[in-house]
Amino acid sequence: MSFKLKNKVAVITGGNSGIGLGTAKLFAAEGAKVTITGRNAATIETAITEIGYDAIGIVSDVININSFEPLYERVKDTFGKIDVLVVNAGIVSLSPIEGVTEEMFDQVIDINYKGVFFTVQKALPYLNNGASIIITSSTVANKGLSGGSVYLSTKAAERALVRAFAAELVGKNIRVNALSPGSIDTPIFKKAGFAQEQEDEMNNFFVSVTPMKRAGTVEEMAKGFLFLASDDSSYMTGGDLLLDGGFRDL
Ligand SMILES: NC(=O)c1ccc[n+]([C@@H]2O[C@H](COP(=O)([O-])OP(=O)(O)OC[C@H]3O[C@@H](n4cnc5c(N)ncnc54)[C@H](OP(=O)(O)O)[C@@H]3O)[C@@H](O)[C@H]2O)c1
Repeated sequence: MSFKLKNKVAVITGGNSGIGLGTAKLFAAEGAKVTITGRNAATIETAITEIGYDAIGIVSDVININSFEPLYERVKDTFGKIDVLVVNAGIVSLSPIEGVTEEMFDQVIDINYKGVFFTVQKALPYLNNGASIIITSSTVANKGLSGGSVYLSTKAAERALVRAFAAELVGKNIRVNALSPGSIDTPIFKKAGFAQEQEDEMNNFFVSVTPMKRAGTVEEMAKGFLFLASDDSSYMTGGDLLLDGGFRDL
């Protein structure tokens, strides 16, 4: 290991599963003091064991605006001010336009858009000089995909937030970037309640439209987060690291 994050304090929302968990493992191995969040206490517990290196886990739901202060206070008391904030918690919800209910719409917006905004806003007093904020957007933020109107628009909103946050925080020496994954092998569809058959169908579709003809791995995403978290990306802010096997542009 190159210890690119030696003694850096890192918070990863949605760190008990998928892309966030893969990133937490790499950050901890690279020397970071890692805090993960999620909603599920049991999977947080398992994840902490998998991550090792004295990482901590805190149950915290981004829908609840009052959850951020206790989270960031606990991080400060345990590790100190935050150097790297990975704003990664998110859900997927797919439906034809006619099938979208107000409840579905509100849930996706509350987690993927409003939750992202307040994860960053409430973190500001707890960030170290030179901090790096990374928001997990998606390659589909720039795509039109049938059935994806609500999810896609939240991912585009995240991309817009990255630009606005970066412009506003550059004077405070805080960098803000997006990482946009393509189709990555994680439990996200399962958690959204899709049957195995539907999940296989969606995964096959994404593989077929991805020039590299395969899904990405959480380990491949973690390396991108490490780049954006570390000094290796010191001249990058407001940008978007696209890790999608060529899906968007080829
Ligand atoms: N997988 C892909 O193909 C793909 C592609 C592009 C972008 N992304 C984005 O990548 C991010 C991570 O997704 P993933 O694929 O790794 O899926 P995942 O394995 O389902 O992870 C999602 C994470 O978000 C957390 N989360 C969801 N709602 C939350 C809430 N209200 N409060 C706090 N935490 C919450 C989950 O925690 P609990 O399990 O405890 O609820 C979980 O840790 C998401 O933003 C997603 O949109 C994924």
